[in-house]
Amino acid sequence: MEIIKSIKEMRLWSDGCRRRGQTIVLVPTMGYLHDGHLSLMREGRRHGDKVVVSIFVNPTQFGPGEDLSTYPRDLERDFNLAKDAGADIIFTPNAWDVYPQGFDTFINQEKLPDHLCGLSRPGHFKGVMTVVAKLFHMVAPQVAIFGEKDFQQLAIIRRMVTDLNFDIQIISHPTVRESDGLAMSSRNSKLSSEQRKSALSLNLALQNAQKLLNEGETRSDRLIQTATDLILSYPGTSVDYIHICDPDSLENVSTITGPAVMALAIKVGPVRLIDNMILTT
Ligand code: PAJ
Repeated sequence: MEIIKSIKEMRLWSDGCRRRGQTIVLVPTMGYLHDGHLSLMREGRRHGDKVVVSIFVNPTQFGPGEDLSTYPRDLERDFNLAKDAGADIIFTPNAWDVYPQGFDTFINQEKLPDHLCGLSRPGHFKGVMTVVAKLFHMVAPQVAIFGEKDFQQLAIIRRMVTDLNFDIQIISHPTVRESDGLAMSSRNSKLSSEQRKSALSLNLALQNAQKLLNEGETRSDRLIQTATDLILSYPGTSVDYIHICDPDSLENVSTITGPAVMALAIKVGPVRLIDNMILTT
């Protein structure tokens, strides 16, 4: 496995692969890798000849007062994990190369960011889209893999790829969970042991919603209220949002008649966690 820092070098490597007719798969990450990220890399191996993992804690997707400065980082550990998972290249560009002096061009969308996380994190998806589009230009992959854990991010990236004619196939991978159901996240490392117990409430609330739906409760407001009560019964939790929405448009649905996604963002102590589940009738 090779580590590339320079954007120019990344392009040269990528040009070489393309000339040889090889398919490049990109797995974009912000590092502090866990099994969720590693599953994306293993999935990537199945879709191409070379797997590039980008590790870049993207400043433009963090709002003021968010956890940019405390976002967990451990590059050496990440290199070893990515190597074992079959990555060919780790791409770790510098922030000043990605966002040179005077940077002033961003990508945005009109509708999808006005839901779910976009409401409590204004500007977040503008930063995500911009950096992902830049990574697509720098790495020039034919395939890119994203996790379903970040459901809204995935929907937004798919929309961007279609709208801006990126010739890149987007593949999604299901959420990887700890054995007790907690969705893996780099931010889980910030939870105390008490908070870790409370964090279980996210998945329990989603499972419970599906159970109630199976029993015939199709009203979203009832399912959301029950999920809210369940989560708040755990110490240290507060609800940012719980929504049930259409998986494509992300518009809220009031009665569940077909596939709908229940998505939630919960704070456990100071740590903000998200999770989601497709509810099926
Ligand atoms: P990050 O949070 O590091 O996640 C990188 C990729 O891993 C995303 O596609 C995310 O959905 C996926 N992922 C995270 N946890 C997962 C889990 N438990 N199971 C399956 N996949 C999981 O998402 C970002 O970084 C950034 O916004 C990025 C796209 C890199 C742009 O900066």
